[in-house]
Amino acid sequence: MAMTEPLVITDKNQMRQWSRSMRAQGKTIGLVPTMGYLHEGHLSLVREAHQRTHVIVVSIYVNPGQFAPTEDLSTYPSDFSGDIKKLNSVPGGVHVVFHPHNLYDYGAGKEERIEKEKEKKGDGDVSCLDNSGLGHETWIKVHNLEKGMCGKSRPIFFRGVATVVAKLFNIVEPDIAFFGKKDYQQWRIIQRMVRDLDFGIEVVGSEIVRDADGLALSSRNVYLSPELRTQALSINQSLYQAKRLAENGEANSIKLRDSVVHSIEEAGGKIDYVEVVDQENLEAVEETIVRPVVFCIAAWFGKVRLIDNMEMISV
Ligand code: PAJ
Repeated sequence: MAMTEPLVITDKNQMRQWSRSMRAQGKTIGLVPTMGYLHEGHLSLVREAHQRTHVIVVSIYVNPGQFAPTEDLSTYPSDFSGDIKKLNSVPGGVHVVFHPHNLYDYGAGKEERIEKEKEKKGDGDVSCLDNSGLGHETWIKVHNLEKGMCGKSRPIFFRGVATVVAKLFNIVEPDIAFFGKKDYQQWRIIQRMVRDLDFGIEVVGSEIVRDADGLALSSRNVYLSPELRTQALSINQSLYQAKRLAENGEANSIKLRDSVVHSIEEAGGKIDYVEVVDQENLEAVEETIVRPVVFCIAAWFGKVRLIDNMEMISV
């Protein structure tokens, strides 16, 4: 179905009705969940969705449930009209942009409670929904997969991601959902949630899209000064270097990891973690690499935290 402008839906019931009417017409539905400020990485997921499904829904929702009070919820970049233009630039466009104002139902008396919460925090940040008594109580935790890596430094992050994605799945009712391997741990967590809770949705993981200089595209790259951006290239360069070493026979995961750490620190980055983990269960591989692994990195450049990863199979 060729499209020009997408239909913008903000109401969850209307969204569900739209999906059900499409399904009644025999159409398969693809969902691409995003937090907006779209770039080529997001658009690659839309292109992949065109290969696999008849109609495409892109959700744009900055989910407060996955940001800790100290994180960048209030400064997360947004450009809704720019996002629509970018989606229109993809051949075939998209059919619906689901852009809810708020996906959490706070129940009766919510306005009052939100106001009180804002006064308490003083900064308008109501991201800590569970502790604030605002009304949302049900959270999905994928116990083992969310323990390590990003889960360590961002303890409520994956619980918030899994919960909002489950909500989106229940609202949009897609046949296939598309995620980027850029957020490798997130992709594996969603796959596992779908399997464990019988969502009956196929979860596709798409390859990482990089800029010409190799930096993985991210909505947060906009906050890098030219100098920090140059430093940040150490992430992807060190990953490619480790991959080359592995292909040339270096199978010791500690040696490979150390070379990555060294390169990033030398460039001026501050490491959050560098880990070599099993591609499926994300458990650390601290010995000879004999099965498919993924090198995962999170590092700070100034105030910007970037993540990247690379799949590798040693010889
Ligand atoms: P967001 O960061 O906007 O990313 C939306 C999707 O785009 C994710 O699946 C992410 O992995 C993918 N993506 C981002 N950069 C990419 C790149 N360079 N190459 C390929 N894919 C890329 O991830 C989220 O939003 C949220 O956590 C969300 C799943 C929407 C839940 O709130």
